[in-house]
Amino acid sequence: MKITIIGAGNVGATTAQRIIDNELANELVLVDIIEGIPQGKGLDMYESTPITGVDVKVIGTNGYEETANSDIVIITAGVARKPGMSREDLLNTNFGIVKEATLKSIEKSPNAIIIVVTNPLDVMAYTAWRISGFERHRVIGMAGVLDTARFRTFIAMELNVSVEDVYAFVLGGHGDDMVPLVRYTTVAGIPISELLPKEKIDQLVKRTREGGAEIVSYLKTGSAYYAPSAAIVEMVESIVKDKKRILPCSVLLQGEYGLNDVFVGVPVKLGRKGVEEIIELKLTDEEKQALHASASRVKSIIDSLKFD
Ligand code: NAI
Ligand code: 2OP
Repeated sequence: MKITIIGAGNVGATTAQRIIDNELANELVLVDIIEGIPQGKGLDMYESTPITGVDVKVIGTNGYEETANSDIVIITAGVARKPGMSREDLLNTNFGIVKEATLKSIEKSPNAIIIVVTNPLDVMAYTAWRISGFERHRVIGMAGVLDTARFRTFIAMELNVSVEDVYAFVLGGHGDDMVPLVRYTTVAGIPISELLPKEKIDQLVKRTREGGAEIVSYLKTGSAYYAPSAAIVEMVESIVKDKKRILPCSVLLQGEYGLNDVFVGVPVKLGRKGVEEIIELKLTDEEKQALHASASRVKSIIDSLKFD
């Protein structure tokens, strides 16, 4: 198993460290445009492996030669959000970066599965799919696992229970109009509506929608990376170990949920082939409307991009 991470910044480097610590690859390549950064971080991580007792060869580079024949390519390259910036503000810069990262990666690793992390997430995942020409099951955007983890954390904090017992699903685009599915949210099987009043649930939904901005407002110089890297690694593990986890991921819909030609977060089965199934949940009219509103926002941004 060979994994390449494009972008050795906060998300990329933390993801690399988690992958190495969990020995999810035999070889890990870190790519960044800043000279010295991927080499230095990569070597530092490699030097941790005798202590942690894992056999992962780590290479840091500014080029793509060393990425050849990767099984998974994770794109985190781009500009991160600063206070006051929306995810869409990042659009133009990151569009160029993701196009380049995709083209250079697929030239060396034509059979890889691509996991996109760069924001605005759903639009960048669409970009990687469109530019790569890959089948849709090999291009996956990470957002739903993170948004769901935030929702689960807030519920566990509120009820003073273990996060492990909180199950939830957040669908839709990775933006302020994401769709936390309260009806499918339970604590050890007990519907959340039996445990918390509606006003409190609404507050937790709002905090989840604003979860990314909450971290930005604390950090001031960047955005979240501990929970995002954990979310990426949960997806990577399901692929590497062919676990067939059902996780919310941004994927290309072609008729599912009544949506077409748009990347948006829905539950999928992740295994060695990538997206092995798109799970269609029965939604209420209100939930469906919210998902469609979120998808149409993603679609309008996609339509504003020039691909040729
Ligand atoms: P960062 O600024 O720490 O790292 C980005 C890295 O990309 C930098 O080291 C930079 O030199 C590198 N880079 C820029 N252009 C490049 C190129 N053409 N080729 C290779 N590397 C290049 O940012 P951070 O915090 O790691 O975030 C990365 C991206 O991930 C941002 O767009 C951020 O908004 C997004 N993000 C998305 C999340 C999600 O849920 N989908 C969660 C967290 C972050
Ligand atoms: C987040 O939700 C910045 O999109 C990133 O933390």
